Amino acid sequence: MSILRFSLDRQGTQSLSEQIRSSIADAIRQGHLYEGARLPSWRDLAAQLGVSRGTIKIAYDRLTDDQLVIPKGAAGTFVSAVLPTVPKVTAGAMRLPLPDLYQDLDSEPKLFQVGVPSQDGFPFKHWARIMLRCTRQAVAEPLRYPDPRGERVLRKEIAAYLAVSRGLLCSADQIIITNGYAGALGLTLHLLRLDSRKVWIEDPGYPLTRHSLSLAGYTAIPVPVDDQGMCVAQGIALAADAGLAIVTPSQQAPLGVQLSLDRRQALLMWARENAGWIIEDDYLSELQLSGQATPALASLDHDGRVIHIGTFSKTISPRLRLGFMVVPASLSERAGDTAAALSPASALPSQLAVAEFLRDSHYLRHIRRMKRLYIQHRDALLALMGPSFSVNDIAGLSLLLSLDDDADDIAIAAAANAFNLAPAPLSPWYATQANARKGLLLGVTNLSGPALEESYQQLKALIARHRQ
Ligand SMILES: Cc1ncc(COP(=O)(O)O)c(C=O)c1O
Repeated sequence: MSILRFSLDRQGTQSLSEQIRSSIADAIRQGHLYEGARLPSWRDLAAQLGVSRGTIKIAYDRLTDDQLVIPKGAAGTFVSAVLPTVPKVTAGAMRLPLPDLYQDLDSEPKLFQVGVPSQDGFPFKHWARIMLRCTRQAVAEPLRYPDPRGERVLRKEIAAYLAVSRGLLCSADQIIITNGYAGALGLTLHLLRLDSRKVWIEDPGYPLTRHSLSLAGYTAIPVPVDDQGMCVAQGIALAADAGLAIVTPSQQAPLGVQLSLDRRQALLMWARENAGWIIEDDYLSELQLSGQATPALASLDHDGRVIHIGTFSKTISPRLRLGFMVVPASLSERAGDTAAALSPASALPSQLAVAEFLRDSHYLRHIRRMKRLYIQHRDALLALMGPSFSVNDIAGLSLLLSLDDDADDIAIAAAANAFNLAPAPLSPWYATQANARKGLLLGVTNLSGPALEESYQQLKALIARHRQ
């Protein structure tokens, strides 16, 4: 339990033991000390407050008499079940952050859920062994500050991986380990010190990117996406003076299209001629279910305008909260300073574990296995769908089920949730609602099991009901 903090009035009329008792009682009644929490030992609390152990004992005995705590001998003294007199948090304060993105952080991924890897395909035993080894190693190391850019061993492995798998040649010094894509985006916005507050984003595009820009005080300029990816010419027409463009070139999120070579060149040319920057969000890396993954956009960047961001959220686990950014060499020192000052890399054991996973080719093998598994899942779903729905495309690790323009995809997704299904509505991915296409994204990562057919029929029935 965290250390209790309260100030004692040593000149006051109330005894010290009574002051201690009433502070702890208030904390319990107000719900700050939860049921089952262990109180500090007499000795620790006496030393912390500079009073005798006897004083603490008297306070604890009174709390026991009031049935606020339960003494359990050598195990310690524990808070008992008490109904708090003041609600701990109000209903308004209980909403999750970014509720359109995070509806439920406690339950297991549901059928059709997008954005999470396969539960069944995850190599739990192997990963647990590596993590255990790396945790031991991290704990045994001298107690010095780690490199704020992330462990060199991991940055070197990432550089080697990017050269082989994403055609991107860089040195470990250009790489910063981050708290996933979101962490890298925050760091990049600090790092670039943009003169222009305008930023091109894909429309439709990843809602978190929109939130991040708005929270950081930027103006998102939604640029339409067609079958060649972001329409760069429209971006130029809308705001040639933007300071930054954020794109998902390899597999557009959510539509899955690749940014064509012409568009890549147009985007790089815009950046070169306007001193603009480009963030390449490579969230799926080479985890592509059809065709070949295209090389990273950053591999074509000869002017040092692209910041490439990768994440292990989709390829290993979102619970790692681990990603990385590759900055042009001209920015690497400033990026290191910015990381050190604002967002140093954390979670040393996970960094070491991912380095080991990459080093021994487990990562490449794991990605290959996941690809095979996801293709099987996708094909099983396609077979069920038959010709009754128009599957417009394979959208990353999802199938996009298009709906009529007047369909309420948000309501259908909410209704599906009651059946433990989690398709994602397409329309919230659009910044410009007037242009929003309606549809459902059906994640294929967790589609195994005999329930698939039944669940799919349930979803179909729900869609039909909403059409009436
Ligand atoms: C387009 C896009 N980028 C990045 C991410 C991953 O973000 P993070 O690394 O913060 O988990 C996601 C996750 O769903 C995504 O859809």
